[in-house]
Amino acid sequence: MPITFSPIEACAGNQPFAECHEVDLSRPLDATDIQTIRAALLKHGMLLFRDQHAMTPADEVAFNRAFGWHDDAQCDFLFGFGAPVTEHRVSGAAQMPALPEVSVLGNVLLDDYHGITNTQLVPVLGFSHSGWHADGLHDMFDGLPEMTTMFNPPGWESKGGGETYFTSGVCALERLESGLLDELSRCVVAYMRYPNDDAQDETRRIIPGASVMEREGTFRNGFAIDRHDHDCGLHDFELLPEHAEQAGRHPCIYRHPETGQRSLYITPGQAVCLLDMETGAIRHGVDETAELLSAALLPSALPEVRYEHRWQEGDFVAWINTLALHSASDPSEIDGPRLMHRVRLSTPKRRWAEGRYLDFPTGT
Ligand SMILES: [Fe+2]
Repeated sequence: MPITFSPIEACAGNQPFAECHEVDLSRPLDATDIQTIRAALLKHGMLLFRDQHAMTPADEVAFNRAFGWHDDAQCDFLFGFGAPVTEHRVSGAAQMPALPEVSVLGNVLLDDYHGITNTQLVPVLGFSHSGWHADGLHDMFDGLPEMTTMFNPPGWESKGGGETYFTSGVCALERLESGLLDELSRCVVAYMRYPNDDAQDETRRIIPGASVMEREGTFRNGFAIDRHDHDCGLHDFELLPEHAEQAGRHPCIYRHPETGQRSLYITPGQAVCLLDMETGAIRHGVDETAELLSAALLPSALPEVRYEHRWQEGDFVAWINTLALHSASDPSEIDGPRLMHRVRLSTPKRRWAEGRYLDFPTGT
């Protein structure tokens, strides 16, 4: 049976995402399958594969490596978290010792799970804390993961909550009014200074706490004193443009090098200010930047527009970070045990040199 695709019904009117049929990802993909799925990933931005009950962690890694976007030389799989590669417990998740490409996320105590022992998983990302993002965007200079995959393995279906939200960055641009589109096309986002794979120094960690997000996860209102307790309030902290010095900078509007598709490519929760793409001068300060990025993303983040993926056992989802933005829903809404696998391999690194803004694929 040939591989086929159909729109994901729940979002067909607003999003280009598709479900992929007639493929068993526990079996090796042949060259034709790889070509077919690769083209569909670039066309739809996100693909859903249901009933992948026989898939192993090695199959997940093989899928992520199959399309030519990964870095063969990669030995660090922590993607900007600034932790040593031998540390297998980062940000409430765990990495499989024998396959560190696979992170395990959730809320359960793991013992003897693919080599992970006595590890309590803690869900830390959420819609109210962190919000919409592209993986790696805020804490990597380059080599950002082109694709992320997530898998809900058999035996681990939550009773409710835990959805992952998606919205197409390509469609988000189509919803922008032309003045805002023109302005953002001239801008590079300067993100917060943060320990990352290139600079793991802990002193780079200037964020006083998790970003507190409003307006459907698009607007940062401040930084939480305690991400697990909303009533604790916000840190008394003034974010300044200098908090982005020597940090990652990426264009607001990304032009995909293969397809030419332009997409909104932002992580509002970690943005500091907007710089002129050609000169590097500040075009919009901290407050104005938060307003502009929210205005750009909000029409595509509304409940009636975004796709909320409710995970079923055996679901495998793959998305292109440069074409689709995503967010976790709030962990407090998770009902029952949750365990997910995530794989995101770096693309080959092209060292970013300060000030060379025109090196980035631009929206023009
Ligand atoms: Fe993410």
